[in-house]
Parts: sequence; C-alpha cells; structure tokens
Amino acid sequence: MGLGCGNPTAIAELREGETVLDLGSGAGMDVFLAANKVGPTGRVIGVDMTEAMIDKANAIAKSNGYENVEFRLGEIENLPAEDNSVDTLISNCVINLSPNKSRVFSEAYRVLKPKGRLVVSDIVAERALPDGIKEDLDAWAGCIAGALEKNEYLEEIRGADFADLQVVPNGEFHAADPRSGETVKLLSISVKAYKP
Ligand SMILES: C[S@@+](CC[C@H](N)C(=O)[O-])C[C@H]1O[C@@H](n2cnc3c(N)ncnc32)[C@H](O)[C@@H]1O
Repeated sequence: MGLGCGNPTAIAELREGETVLDLGSGAGMDVFLAANKVGPTGRVIGVDMTEAMIDKANAIAKSNGYENVEFRLGEIENLPAEDNSVDTLISNCVINLSPNKSRVFSEAYRVLKPKGRLVVSDIVAERALPDGIKEDLDAWAGCIAGALEKNEYLEEIRGADFADLQVVPNGEFHAADPRSGETVKLLSISVKAYKP
C-alpha cells in the first residue's frame, strides 16, 4: 500500500546506524525501505495521525520481522520526537495535506541534528491553484488541493532555516478545476536540504 509520489530514500544517501524519521508514514513503505538501508544498528520512526495506518504498519513490521522500526501516533505539526535527535527526515506525499506547512518544516528543523538532512517528495503546483480545486474534497484526497506553488513551497523550507536546497523532478500531470474546467500543471518533486 504505497501512496507516495516519489522515492525519498533513493536520494537520501542513508547510512548504516542512522536514525530516520518519516512524516506521514501511512502503511510504512518508506519506513521499511529506510530500515533496510540503516540496518540493525539504525532506527526508523514513522509518524502518522491515523490510528488505522499505525496499526497496519505495525502489523506489516511484525509479519516481516522488522525490529529497527517504530510507529508513533502523532501530527507532523507537533512531532512526537526530541529536539536534535534525527539524522535524516523523510516524507512522501504528505506535507501537501497539511494546512500549516511552515509549522511542519520548523518541526522538522527542531528534531533534526545539526548537519541532518531533510528529504521530502511532494506535489507542488506550477501556479496558484484555482479555488474550485482548493475546495474540492476529491482533490484533497488526491494530494492536489493543498499543493503550494513550487516557489512558495521552497520558500517555506528556506524560511525554516534549511540550506543547500536541491530539487529533483519526478514527473508532472494536469488537474482540472471541477467548476470552471481551467487546468493547472502539478509537479511531483523531491527536495533535499540540510540543517546547518
Ligand atoms: C498520501 S498518504 C502517504 C503515506 C506514505 N507516506 C506513503 O508514501 O505511502 C498520507 C498519509 O499522511 C497521513 N497524514 C496526513 N496529514 C497528517 C498530519 N498532519 N500529521 C500526521 N499524519 C498525517 C495520513 O494519515 C496518511 O497516512
């Protein structure tokens, strides 16, 4: 059950022994990919606000014998994690769903260790979304309605004091406003940045 829009672990350059935190871990796909890379001396923590997803991820971890993973119920705007405790923070198609993205990035900054990496895959828009898309529940569920303009998204990351941003394009698609029929281009991107 992968509901992501990129592959953050593929570009995160995870090392054995690292502590990784996944924002909005869902059924745990990216947590398990990361767990394979950090090995038995590392640890991967998934955070999700939905109890059903935490239960599902725990069941998958148990049936596949993952001992270096942990799933915590919580919100990405109020991370259940200590300050300066994480080497790499990943997220796959979740931050677009948050109504408070600046809070998400400042929480990410808080929990990362100095020199820690932020590697997030997400959906952004080429230009501001028309109101008909922003207010469409199906578009929310499809990770479209909350998409910021690409530059605004990157500014949110810089605004949380992250440095050395690199953007990797994953693909693009179009969405139509159900009211006006106007279309807008959506971009799937991965962004890598560092806590100085
Ligand atoms: C589109 S799914 C992506 C799941 C997973 N990252 C993947 O790639 O398969 C979004 C997930 O984020 C969780 N989520 C959405 N908003 C959240 C928030 N504010 N805090 C914590 N979890 C959130 C949802 O419960 C859901 O499991």
